[in-house]
Formats: sequence, structure tokens, C-alpha cells
Amino acid sequence: MGAYFSHDVVIIGRGAAGLALALRLPQTMRIAVLSKGDVTQSSTYWAQGGMAAVLHARDSVESHVEDTLNAGAGLCHEDAVELTVSHSRGTVEWLASLGVDFDLREDIDPTQSPEYHLAKEGGHSHRRIVHAADRTGGAIGEVLERRAMNAANIELFTGRAAVDLVVDNGVCRGIYALDQQSDQVDVFASGAVVLASGGASKVYLYTSNPDGASGDGIAMAWRAGCRVANLEFNQFHPTCLFHPEAKSFLVTEALRGEGAKLLLPDGQRFMPRFDDRAELAPRDIVARAIDHEMKRLGVDCVYLDISHQSREFLHTHFPTVYERCLSFGIDMSRERIPVVPAAHNTCGGIVVDSHGRSDVAGQYAIGECSYTGLHGANRMASNSLLECLVYAQTAAEHIESFLVRHPVSDKRPPAWDESQVTDSDEDVVISHNWDELRRFMWDYVGIVRTNKRLERALHRVDLLAREIHDYYSNYKVSNDLLELRNLTTVAWLIIRCAMARRESRGLHYTLDYPDLLSEARDTVLSPSD
Ligand code: FAD
Ligand code: SIN
Repeated sequence: MGAYFSHDVVIIGRGAAGLALALRLPQTMRIAVLSKGDVTQSSTYWAQGGMAAVLHARDSVESHVEDTLNAGAGLCHEDAVELTVSHSRGTVEWLASLGVDFDLREDIDPTQSPEYHLAKEGGHSHRRIVHAADRTGGAIGEVLERRAMNAANIELFTGRAAVDLVVDNGVCRGIYALDQQSDQVDVFASGAVVLASGGASKVYLYTSNPDGASGDGIAMAWRAGCRVANLEFNQFHPTCLFHPEAKSFLVTEALRGEGAKLLLPDGQRFMPRFDDRAELAPRDIVARAIDHEMKRLGVDCVYLDISHQSREFLHTHFPTVYERCLSFGIDMSRERIPVVPAAHNTCGGIVVDSHGRSDVAGQYAIGECSYTGLHGANRMASNSLLECLVYAQTAAEHIESFLVRHPVSDKRPPAWDESQVTDSDEDVVISHNWDELRRFMWDYVGIVRTNKRLERALHRVDLLAREIHDYYSNYKVSNDLLELRNLTTVAWLIIRCAMARRESRGLHYTLDYPDLLSEARDTVLSPSD
């Protein structure tokens, strides 16, 4: 039988959202942070460009809000945007106080009045991105993880895959989690559970996300009775390295902020034909333009050219991308980088309020698994890390008062029941279904959609869901089975959301409804419907 643990708060996820929340909660609370791997296996760790914040003398909260609303194509919730953006300066200061070293301007003597170096990315009307060269997420994640490891009240459990939430009489009382070493399912009882489990871009064949981005939190919340919203808006990053061994390595948008141009194989620039902002148009526009040109010409990739910048400049500002390209024989100071779009960010998610509260009492969701209303129909570059950190702060405030009224219960949740299942003897079922799901999602529910493609995808996902349900009922759980089950649920939710939207807006583009409806509405799905 699995082990039993009890904490005030259980957090699922060791990325920016989960770690920041653990550190923001009072030190008197006993906190468990569960994750499948260490921080290097989160999207946070791989974030390159940086974090958007209003720091420049000529910038303002109003301008950042306006840019975010524009990128979000009418669907952002203005209160969520204002809340997030107005906390940006304080968030940078908090991270700096913990020891995150953001890059400073080199042209100003740091002993006089140091100023952050601010980068520019698509959709932003000002230089606004604080960064640590091109490994901002790594710099933030390492500092947060180190701080959490040193905090006496925080226990980090690695190699734990949360399976499902324990909900008793409408109140969340903890979670079941698979210990990947012992293969047992443990019970973690708690007063509050926070899903900070990241996005679901692994539902697509090609993704910039690390393993583990399988939408587990979204699927768990759905099974527990929470509403989800706007899952049709999955963002495709326009520029991932195209190389058979590169596994969709991201080539940061900040390169385009420093003048990189997108080129066709014959060297022609094409973005000005699609948008006045050219390479710095919002991501949905750039990704769609690349997809269009690749299909029109029947080519495997387009090219990103930053060879006008010196090797020294590129090495200083983009060491990660520079080294990675070089490892594949591409010297970006002299040659063009082959790039393709890949699934990058889940803009919809679990419906939450301004404190990260979901529909189930005692259950919160923050970071990429949540839907706060910040991103609307298209997330603006570098707003995600900010969202993770700001909602970690607001959730912490609420959890503190919630636990005063609802402390962890003495009543133990029931142990995980494995009496009806056996060890699987056919793991091939999982790997086969896994590949099939990700491929049809890429082909039918990708950058350009149609009714017919969505219907095909729905038919396939329904079949898969039935097969996986049978499998799940008969065999012991494994990490792969859990991820496949969750991916199938999230794929179904994405397709259902996409079918419900009868217009093209932001990241959702369908040939059957190419126009924008006059009224902008969230797509909200409820398990009780
Ligand atoms: P993550 O950082 O993804 O962490 C999720 C955590 O949950 C992991 O620890 C994982 O192990 C754990 N987990 C998941 N399921 C389970 C389970 N069942 N049980 C236990 N643990 C589980 N955003 C920006 O703002 N700026 C950028 O420059 C930027 N660049 C990016 C570059 C790349 C390559 C990628 C992939 C994303 C980038 N993003 C960027 C987006 C941003 O990094 C993410 O949206 C954000 O970091 C998500 O943080 P999170 O804490 O919500 O989730
Ligand atoms: C990038 O560096 O291009 C990614 C930024 C983001 O996704 O916010």
C-alpha cells in the first residue's frame, strides 16, 4: 500500500508558479511541492526571451495593458491584465531580492545608476523584457528552487506524478500521487491543493515544451468538476530550430527584436506582405504566415537571418541559441537558421478568479494550467512568467485566509485501491496511441483548422478515450499511462472548444469561419453540461 502524508498545502509543479507560491506562503505552513522531475523538466527552465515588465522611463502600465489587449484579440479580461501588469515592477524587485541576476545595460556604469537591459518582442510597443541573456527561465528557476530547498517548511518531492484530486463533499482534501520509484500510489492529504502543473503542448507532435507538459492539471481539474475555458487557443511559436535532432529547440523571438528577418529559401523576405509590423507582429500572425508560405511552396522550413549582428553581440546576448545552433553546424553570425513553428503555449485552461481559485473549494490553479483571462485569444510574448509569479502572490494571500477557516482535516482520505488491477503486459498500446494522438492533433487541430478536420479528430479521440479508459480500469498506473490518459482528455477538450468557436480569432483560425464575430466570448466547458 502507498504511503500517507499530511501538509497544510500541496502544490503540484516545480516551475515558476509552484516554486514562487511555496516561497510566498507563510513560513509557518507545512508545504509539499510535488513534481515529476526537478526544475530542469519544467517549461519555466527553458524560457529564453524573458519576462515583460514596465520599467522603461517612457513605458507605462497603460501601454503594457493596451498591447496585451491588442494581442489578445478582444478576449482578454481587462481586470486580469491590469492586475498582472501592475504587479510587474514589484515582481522584478522580488526576484532580484531573491538573487536573480537580470542583465543590466552595458552602456551605463552599474556603480552609478544601474538599469536593466530591456529586450523587445512581438506585440510590445516598448522595450520591456527583463532577461538573463537568453536563459531567463533557467536563471529564475534555479534561484527559486534553491530558495525552496533551503526553506525548512517546504518539502520537495521529486519523481511524483499526481494522479487525481481527492474531493470530499465538494471540498478538495488532497491528491493521489504515483511514486515513480516504488510504483505505489501515495495519499497527500492537505487543506489546500494548488495545480501549478504547466501546459499541454505535448498534445502536439512538434512542441517547444519539455517532456511532462501533458496537461495533467487541466485533466485532473476537469475530472474533479472544474470548468475549463478557451483551450482552442494553443499558441504555436513561429521559430523553432528545424533539424532532425534538435527536438523543436526554440529560437527566441528576442532575435527578431534585434532585427532578425524571416526569409524564404530563395532569400526573399515575406513578413511585410502579411503585416505592417512584419517580423514583430503578434505570434499568431507570424506562425500563420510561415505555415502559409511553407504550404504554398511545399518546403520543410523557412529561415531566420541575424547575420547582420556580430558574433560577439550574438555570443553575449544569445549564448544558448548560438551554442545550440553551432552544435548542429549552423553559425548564426554567418548563416541563416532553418526554422518551423511548433506548439508552444496553452493559453486557455482551468477557470480561476484573481486569486487562482477554481470551482472546487480548496483547489487552486496558477501558471500555464490556469485560465485567468490574461492572454485572451493570443498570448503576448513574455507575459507568461509574469502571470505565474503574480498569481502565485495573489493565491498565497487567499490560501492563508482559507486555511484559517478550513484547516487540514483529521479524516484521512481513503487509500488508493489497486485490488482490481494487474501489471500491464502490453505497453505498446500506450506508445502506439501516444504517437497517433499527437500526430492527428498536429494534422487536424493545428495552425489552420476546418470543420472536417475537427470532426475527424473528434472521432479519433473518442475511440482512443474508450480504449484508454478500458486500459486504465484493468492495469496498474504508470507515468506514461497517466500522461496518455490526460493528453487524451485535453485533446478532447481542445477539439470541443475549437468546434464551439464559429469564427477565426487570435490563435484559432478556421477556413470555414474566416471572419471575426462582432461579440467576443470565452468558450467555457463545464463537466456538468
Ligand atoms: P512549468 O514551468 O511547465 O512547470 C510545470 C511543473 O509541473 C513541472 O515541475 C512538472 O514536473 C510538474 N507537473 C506536471 N504534471 C505533473 C503531475 N501530474 N504531477 C506532478 N508534477 C507535475 N514565457 C515567458 O514569459 N517568457 C519567455 O521567454 C518564455 N520562453 C519560453 C521558452 C520555451 C522553450 C517554453 C517551453 C516556454 C516559454 N515561455 C516563456 C512560457 C513559460 O515558460 C511557461 O508558460 C511558464 O514557465 C509555465 O510555468 P508553470 O510554472 O505554470 O509550469
Ligand atoms: C521566446 O523567447 O521567444 C519565447 C517568449 C515567450 O514565449 O514568451
